[in-house]
Amino acid sequence: MKSGRIFVLFLMLPIVTVETGVFDFFSGFFDNDKLRPFNSKGFGKDLRKSLYGQHIALETILKAVSGFMKDSNPPKPLVLSLHGPSGVGKTYVTKIIARNIYEMGEMSKHVHTFITTYHFPHKTQTESAMYESQLKQWIHGNVSSFPHSMFIFDEMDKMNPHLIEAMKPFLDYMPHIDGVSFRKAIFIFLSNAGQDKIVNLALDFWRKGKVREEMQINTEEMETHIYEQIFNDKSSGFRQPCLIDQHLVDHIIPFLPLELRHVQWCVLAEMASLNIIDLDVAHTVAKEMSYYPPEEKIFSIKGCKTVRQKLMLYIDD
Ligand SMILES: Nc1ncnc2c1ncn2[C@@H]1O[C@H](COP(=O)(O)OP(=O)(O)OP(=O)(O)O)[C@@H](O)[C@H]1O
Ligand SMILES: *[C@@H]1O[C@H](CO)[C@@H](O)[C@H](O)[C@H]1NC(C)=O
Ligand SMILES: [Mg+2]
Repeated sequence: MKSGRIFVLFLMLPIVTVETGVFDFFSGFFDNDKLRPFNSKGFGKDLRKSLYGQHIALETILKAVSGFMKDSNPPKPLVLSLHGPSGVGKTYVTKIIARNIYEMGEMSKHVHTFITTYHFPHKTQTESAMYESQLKQWIHGNVSSFPHSMFIFDEMDKMNPHLIEAMKPFLDYMPHIDGVSFRKAIFIFLSNAGQDKIVNLALDFWRKGKVREEMQINTEEMETHIYEQIFNDKSSGFRQPCLIDQHLVDHIIPFLPLELRHVQWCVLAEMASLNIIDLDVAHTVAKEMSYYPPEEKIFSIKGCKTVRQKLMLYIDD
């Protein structure tokens, strides 16, 4: 009789612990999805080793992220907006950032990626209203349980202006919203907005025979150029209730179009991951990509996208 009661008690133990949060404590204890101790030297090394041909973005991201991670009391969340043509490393760099911040890198449950046309394909007004409240809840819920959460918005230029408006309070200098502080969160916006300006600047530079790595875009000039294009594009989500205008975006970061040599490095990186190295093949594959403008053929049309698929055609196992 007595032993029976103890047995029942024993069975109930897990239920009790779940309810009292002891379970939370233990799962937290064994949880390996947490922050890494931030090491800016290591971050710089990783960027230099992995990201090709983006000296401006590299330096800005290195300084901005390192400064932010080292600040124990930042006044606002870090908000970066990455711009440039397709396939030149925007999405890729977010993975590099994530693996330097979280133990589990881009797979961390604290990294939230939204692709505008997929997650918020706003059709009706009711739907947009639903996305708005959902997004607010998600950001609020996740940041309240993990302050250093990261939110990546891809195709930001296609985002509904109302949705951007809804997000604005989170990006601002606010002590807290409903008791939650957002100052340790990181927001990264990705888009092709401004790409024409960026490409034209790079092209002019090249035509003048200057060294690409010396292209120091005076940030303000760059920003003005990008603003102009964004603001003239009537369909752009950036256009309306100006994230940029209100200085909620901390850094507007240009990504340059990639040249043949960068594509070659991308091929070599892919080869290395397959444990093969062959400079001739790397050169051949890089040359197989298409380049523009038609006369000079300097920049890769797809950047380093599809390099892997092209490479597969040249390796026989
Ligand atoms: N600058 C670069 N350095 C090294 N690898 C790169 C670079 N750019 C692109 N790559 C390689 O090409 C792949 C595709 O690039 P990525 O997805 O970052 O393009 P993107 O700039 O986000 O383009 P889109 O605007 O189309 O989304 C990356 O996963 C990476 O392997
Ligand atoms: C956190 O964000 C994810 C989307 O990335 C969402 O599914 C989840 O419900 C959010 N969590 C909270 C507590 O709001
Ligand atoms: Mg991308």
